[in-house]
Amino acid sequence: MAFITSGAAAVSGASLTARRAFTGAAVCPVPSGRTSPAAATWSMSAGGLRTFLVGGNWKCNLSKDAITSLCKELAAAPDLETDKVEVVLAPPTPYLDHTRSVLRQDFEVAAQNIWVGGPGAYTGETAAEMIKDVGCTWVILGHSERRNLPQIRESDDFIAQKTKTALSHGLKVMFCIGETLEEREEGRTLDVCVRQLHALAETIGADDWKDVVIAYEPVWAIGTGKIATPDQVEEVHEKIRHYLAGDVNDKVAQETRILYGGSVSPGNCNELAQLPDVDGFLVGGASLKASFLEVIESFKSDLAATV
Ligand code: PGA
Repeated sequence: MAFITSGAAAVSGASLTARRAFTGAAVCPVPSGRTSPAAATWSMSAGGLRTFLVGGNWKCNLSKDAITSLCKELAAAPDLETDKVEVVLAPPTPYLDHTRSVLRQDFEVAAQNIWVGGPGAYTGETAAEMIKDVGCTWVILGHSERRNLPQIRESDDFIAQKTKTALSHGLKVMFCIGETLEEREEGRTLDVCVRQLHALAETIGADDWKDVVIAYEPVWAIGTGKIATPDQVEEVHEKIRHYLAGDVNDKVAQETRILYGGSVSPGNCNELAQLPDVDGFLVGGASLKASFLEVIESFKSDLAATV
């Protein structure tokens, strides 16, 4: 949970304790035809409460037996206070149904992909209706492995269309964005994130954002053990919020949860959880072990930093 309270927004650097209101001029690119967020004001009274969310992306890993064992280990932890933390696990498609049947009921299940349209003659695809039918409530879309793997190469527009399809079927979406190492080194981090988000903003309505969680995942930090520094993370998250104020509206900027992803582990999650604009994590490798419970527990660090 993170509150934005008072003070001017900094455009670089991060404070682990500050909770900020934005009242300043635009600091990030706003696509043409949209207004800048110069008049934006975010405050607690405007409803700045964002429940911490931890997602586990199992990618193309685990077997049916391994999932059963992991779910048993995860069941040992106390019940979630779901007003303080939400947990969503994303198994490979063939194990969605099984995972839903063996996973504790206070954790939700996400698919890692869906087809852009309805059921029909689409060999190898999985429609949103089918995902819902087996008890999934979420889908991860726009993951960098689907954007960037040369065999897949999903475009911004395709991902935005899939997101629209998911939302129209009542699925919530973890919408992943992030820059490659090359793009960061060329100083294009924000341009890339804005381009990816703008494709979505053009495709869904302002009311649809309530079911979207953004996962900022710098590609160079995924699966590499190279974690972005707290300053790097907060700077991008804050600018994403600023962008949302300009391209969508203040309410969406204030209420949309922004997760960080990329080599998150029990060892680094507590420091990152305290950042004002970090509302949870999307976790790959570290979600394959029972110690993932320690990442979930980092919501307490977020609450402790909330003033
Ligand atoms: P990682 O993956 O935690 O293994 O870096 C994160 C992700 O790809 O979502």
